[in-house]
Amino acid sequence: MLTQFTPGALWPDDKGVHINAHGGGFLYHEGVYYWFGEHKIAGWAGNQAHVGVHCYTSRDLYNWEDQGIALRVSDDPDSDIVRGCVLERPKVIYNAKTRQFVMWFHLELKGQGYRAARSGVAVSNSVTGPYTFVRSFRPNAGIWPINATPEQRQVPTPGDQPEFTGSYSGDIAQFNLLGRDSAGGQMARDMTLFVDEDGAAYHVFASEENSTLHISLLSDDYLEPAGKYARVFEGRFMEAPAICKRQGRYYFIGSGCTGWAPNAARSAVADSMWGPWTELGNPCVGENSEITFGGQSTYILPVAGCGDAFIAMFDLWRPENAIDGRYMWLPVEFEDERMVLRYREAWDLSVWNS
Ligand code: GAL
Repeated sequence: MLTQFTPGALWPDDKGVHINAHGGGFLYHEGVYYWFGEHKIAGWAGNQAHVGVHCYTSRDLYNWEDQGIALRVSDDPDSDIVRGCVLERPKVIYNAKTRQFVMWFHLELKGQGYRAARSGVAVSNSVTGPYTFVRSFRPNAGIWPINATPEQRQVPTPGDQPEFTGSYSGDIAQFNLLGRDSAGGQMARDMTLFVDEDGAAYHVFASEENSTLHISLLSDDYLEPAGKYARVFEGRFMEAPAICKRQGRYYFIGSGCTGWAPNAARSAVADSMWGPWTELGNPCVGENSEITFGGQSTYILPVAGCGDAFIAMFDLWRPENAIDGRYMWLPVEFEDERMVLRYREAWDLSVWNS
């Protein structure tokens, strides 16, 4: 029996195997926590999806039972989720109206690097799966964000603006990436889902070549974008988004944009999901805070029945041997409306009793 969290250590499941659920998402459903994440294999190859999305369950958050693979990659070379694609940051939410569990993830088509920048959707009537892949796409084709300026609501004619190649000098705003991608849909990479108290669900993802996040309302059945979205943290290159709600306000943790290498975390607060979002800086304090103690955010979990208790969850990536990636969970402290994260070698849920 495990009785504490030990960031960075191997974390054995009920079979004694290190938990294999990276870039994880969490669902609390009928008294049980579900952890969904990327199943990685050994070596660099483990950064592509060879197995799928792994699911674990727990009642106490320390001890996790292996529930197997919730969504399997396909052997069909024509499938968007064929083995060898990149399938990252899966998140599952429950739709009370349809009684379906809906999974969204970041999908890169096999052999295309990170160019495809798509969102994948899968569904299941059973929380642990198996999930059925529905489709992948780029969100919000032909729809303008509610806060786009008239200049941004233009589809540039070829030759009108410099082509974005990844290397440029000056401001990213010189490219109207929103307009460039309007017809085919907006790029969607690192992502999370957030369900509000009223049941409205939001898809939050790194778009516009990772330069700007989009916050996009989902349809009532959570299967597609509802057609309303906003651009936030314009030109700030944020990734690894995670959101929670505390005392009526929305809190955000994310990272900068340096691939598998850690950087300084970002945080922000807003009174509405649509913004305005106020940046609150790096929530980490103390030694190695400038690299988020080696981690990159993936989720903020409210501890059930525990009012103000939120766990900020991070991956400690090991890209050269992906299966060895570790997890770092830290309690969120709120100081003057700001989130603060202190590294702890070992801790348990009693931090909220004192
Ligand atoms: C990170 C991202 C990961 C993965 C990685 C690939 O920035 O958060 O999910 O996509 O880049 O380099």
